Amino acid sequence: MKNIFIPWAKPDVGQDELKEIKNSFKKNWLTQGPKVRKFESSMAKFCDVPYAVAVSNGTVAIDIALKTLGIKPKDEVIVPAMSYFSTASMVSYQNAVPVFVDIELDSFNINPIQIEKAISKKTKAITFIDYGGNPSNIDKILKIGKKYNIPVLQDGAQSLGGIYKGRKTGANAQISTMSFHMAKILSCVEGGMIFTHKKKLFSEIKMRRSHGEKKAGDYIHNILGTNARLTDMQAGIGLAQLKKLKKYILLRNKVAKTYNKLLQDNKKIVLPITKQYSYNAYFSYPILIKNRDKIARNLRNKYGIDTRIAYKMPIYKQKIYKHKQFPFRKLNCPNAEYISSKILNLPIYPSLSKSNINYIVKSLIKEI
Ligand SMILES: Cc1ncc(COP(=O)(O)O)c(C=O)c1O
Repeated sequence: MKNIFIPWAKPDVGQDELKEIKNSFKKNWLTQGPKVRKFESSMAKFCDVPYAVAVSNGTVAIDIALKTLGIKPKDEVIVPAMSYFSTASMVSYQNAVPVFVDIELDSFNINPIQIEKAISKKTKAITFIDYGGNPSNIDKILKIGKKYNIPVLQDGAQSLGGIYKGRKTGANAQISTMSFHMAKILSCVEGGMIFTHKKKLFSEIKMRRSHGEKKAGDYIHNILGTNARLTDMQAGIGLAQLKKLKKYILLRNKVAKTYNKLLQDNKKIVLPITKQYSYNAYFSYPILIKNRDKIARNLRNKYGIDTRIAYKMPIYKQKIYKHKQFPFRKLNCPNAEYISSKILNLPIYPSLSKSNINYIVKSLIKEI
């Protein structure tokens, strides 16, 4: 194997982020404090939404969002069949029932037509993601929510920086959540955010983040909550990254364009499709390919190229559902079955060089 390693994702952390951490140490304010508040207001402004609450990760953000929407045991929540586990597992965490709905063949996002077919009397929320930063058909999903008076929860963990019909993606629903895990478009090492357009929900989310306290440190616990606080050190990293976010998205788009150009004539590879009205944030660059597992293995072992199979199976095939440990319902999901058997995410991050992209493409073509 060549002495080379290309990761599938790479956070852009350096002097700007270090300066923020040092500053937090100097000011001796390390846990949730002024930087968290600044991060919240800056993110709210960026996403064009009135309220934002920073939390410790994207999973707990979904947990709190579902609780705030009042999801109770046995309630049904519609989820895309192909997503990261926590989009659905947090529904099961409430002892509620995820209802798996198929995705679109082109965008890999939940299919709005299928959502309507999945609605029952027990449906209490509809969730969607923007797979790999590629915006879902948000208006159609919100319209269905409105028609049936069911709240919509956007799991925007991968959406930051995208644009849908001229609107920023990530915070488009009644409640939206985001992740700032190390591999994400913007990173706080670990971190998350909950956005809402409603003041009442905002107050409840803030309380749920911190043991149900209305006022921090007064030890009056109004509702059941948890400790999901983000630290000021992490928020500082997020603030430094936010200044560079537009550049990150441009660079990610540049990488995707280069892949598109180099791979477009190859008949054995299906390239990602962005709908005409969308601007893709390119959290990932997914291709569809035969013999995917073998190709991924060879890229790693022979060429030092790390890829991601996201996701290997529809969520309902994960053990907790397959072994019926948790109840779920599913519609037919042929697209999720097909895509999860062929999908491979190639490396993408702002600093991925043209020569490395050429190397990835050449290695891939040799292997297919
Ligand atoms: C769609 C989606 N939802 C939720 C999460 C969970 O976020 P976190 O890792 O911050 O808990 C992720 C992270 O990979 C994700 O991609």
